[in-house]
Amino acid sequence: MLEKLDLTGKRGLITGAGSGIGRAIALRLAEEGMKLALVGRSADKLVRTAALTGRPLDMLVLPVDLTQPRGIDDIMRILEGHFKGLDVLVNNAGMALNRPFEETSEEDYDRIMNLNARVPFVLCKRTLKLLRQSECPTIINIGSVVAHDGYARQAAYAASKHALLGMTKALAKEVYGEGIRVHMISPGGVYTDMIAIARPDLSPEGMIQPEEVAELAAYLATHRGGAVIDEIRLHRAAKEPFI
Ligand SMILES: NC(=O)c1ccc[n+]([C@@H]2O[C@H](COP(=O)([O-])OP(=O)(O)OC[C@H]3O[C@@H](n4cnc5c(N)ncnc54)[C@H](OP(=O)(O)O)[C@@H]3O)[C@@H](O)[C@H]2O)c1
Repeated sequence: MLEKLDLTGKRGLITGAGSGIGRAIALRLAEEGMKLALVGRSADKLVRTAALTGRPLDMLVLPVDLTQPRGIDDIMRILEGHFKGLDVLVNNAGMALNRPFEETSEEDYDRIMNLNARVPFVLCKRTLKLLRQSECPTIINIGSVVAHDGYARQAAYAASKHALLGMTKALAKEVYGEGIRVHMISPGGVYTDMIAIARPDLSPEGMIQPEEVAELAAYLATHRGGAVIDEIRLHRAAKEPFI
């Protein structure tokens, strides 16, 4: 039997909440009545997201660079001190790189692996003790169709999303018995700043909208059954390789 959860007053953390998919998820989870910590580097973008929710006083704006160790320490301090816990973690912040393999530097590779795979690992690890105290603990990692495929010129990005998928599946099994649900949503081309920068050659027409991803995130956070939903993939009908 599928249980529908009421998330009113529950606490969420969304990384990359200042734009694109992260902003859409923030707006959708705010509609469910959640209090949210909004993370990203640009305070202005996060403040705009908070305003768009219509409940800015329930939103915590945390301008933090997740690739800096101090950034994650600051987030933990706020979660423990101000929120006194966490119910839903959304690892969404990420970066893409559309560059030929031989022109992809080791620094590029490390940067992408750090933000797209290591940061979610660290955030999952550090927040598990808070999630264990929640009545509806959920982790949602934003992957990509590139977690399965390997598009030319995207070796580092593809490696990072493959790594994130592996971690998600393993963690989902490890904590299922404790009631913690761990999911990955893997979209194809979504119309956001990221795709406009990485693939300026593509037309926005027919792309997935950030709100479609947000609706799935809201479903995963509000529904609970016996099945393990380790991953939801959203494909676009067109055949071009995306990010
Ligand atoms: N768009 C697509 O077609 C597509 C397809 C599949 C998967 N995805 C995935 O969806 C997720 C969101 O992407 P998007 O398309 O919504 O792109 P986006 O609008 O560029 O969002 C990325 C967000 O991550 C934040 N961010 C980047 N580096 C950060 C850092 N070091 N510390 C903290 N925050 C950081 C950015 O905010 P600041 O710049 O202010 O830090 C930004 O809000 C990514 O994981 C991406 O890989 C996107």
